[in-house]
Amino acid sequence: MEIKVTKTTTPKTKPDASALGFGKYFTDHMFVMDYSDEKGWYDARIVPYGPFEIEPACTTLHYGQAIFEGLKAYKGANGEIFLYRPERNMARINQSNDRLCIPQIDEAFAVEAIKQLVLLDQDWIPEGEGTSLYIRPFIFGTDNMLGVHPSHTYKFVVILSPVGSYYKDGLAPVKIWVEDDYVRAVRGGMGFAKTAGNYAASLKAQAVSSEKGYSQVLWLDGVERKYIEEVGAMNIFFKIGDEVVTPELNGSILAGITRDSVLKVLTAYGYNASERKVSIDEIVEAYKEGKLEEVFGTGTAAVISPVGELCFRGEKMIINNNEIGKVSQFLYDTITGIQKGTVEDKFGFTYRIK
Ligand code: PLP
Ligand code: COI
Repeated sequence: MEIKVTKTTTPKTKPDASALGFGKYFTDHMFVMDYSDEKGWYDARIVPYGPFEIEPACTTLHYGQAIFEGLKAYKGANGEIFLYRPERNMARINQSNDRLCIPQIDEAFAVEAIKQLVLLDQDWIPEGEGTSLYIRPFIFGTDNMLGVHPSHTYKFVVILSPVGSYYKDGLAPVKIWVEDDYVRAVRGGMGFAKTAGNYAASLKAQAVSSEKGYSQVLWLDGVERKYIEEVGAMNIFFKIGDEVVTPELNGSILAGITRDSVLKVLTAYGYNASERKVSIDEIVEAYKEGKLEEVFGTGTAAVISPVGELCFRGEKMIINNNEIGKVSQFLYDTITGIQKGTVEDKFGFTYRIK
């Protein structure tokens, strides 16, 4: 399918690269394509960033038939532009689509569309430490109807946002609240899909923990509230003695691409990395025995985010003296290095587009 390009006639002023925050600014263009049962995906186009007209009866506003992705573009030292494992995000779109009864997309075409969009708006890729161009593809149903059934029409959209670090303090350790009242997802539900409803479900616990001074929630499993799942926008790893462990994928956790990268990097560099069930009791015990050496989250937005404090039922566990641990720092340096082309990529993670 050809992508028709309409360039903006009113380019925006770019924000100050030192105060980007996360997801506040949007570039000049966006990619859009439509779907109908009769035509399949059609009318692929890059157009000036701007609003859609939505009818009040739009099904997504009522029933949330919506999925999204998050990946980043990085500028290298010699003007190269890299994406990071974009084929994995597109594959995950189709897994989410399947769960939400949204039609499949052509993954290779979607990567090509992202490439063209990023190249058109390449001057928006920030270059400072910890900055990148966040790419947000998303799909939503556009039928106007109040019956609960899958939409027959959809929009696939990609927008771009120059970003700094996800947490306001950058790589500094974050405080995390272990949630044992609210749950995010259950097996058989939508936990593994990147769908709007999962994030709506997380807001209440997030708000309550935020009032107590915590920046994210660590979710326990929805049935026994015993096994660790993931954080609001990250997967989670624990270094217990020599083992670096992350909860196994069980259908209610998002299969993070950074999580997968971390497992591959750790294994390649000789660490003892594992995926298995991890209960909160095991973590509390390891902490009491002095074996909980590091905790960190992994995600596209958050990259590697050291955890300085975990609070479970009023007990505060201070991890590694609230400092960035050696493994977290190593992973941050290695993965951001691969992303920006300054560390050799033995894994085939980088996808150079310029
Ligand atoms: N878990 C949740 C709930 C997320 O929103 C994210 C962010 O995308 C992650 C984990 C990490 O996934 P990835 O590393 O693919 O960005
Ligand atoms: C990401 O890391 O891409 C995320 O989606 C996190 C978040 C902003 C929802």
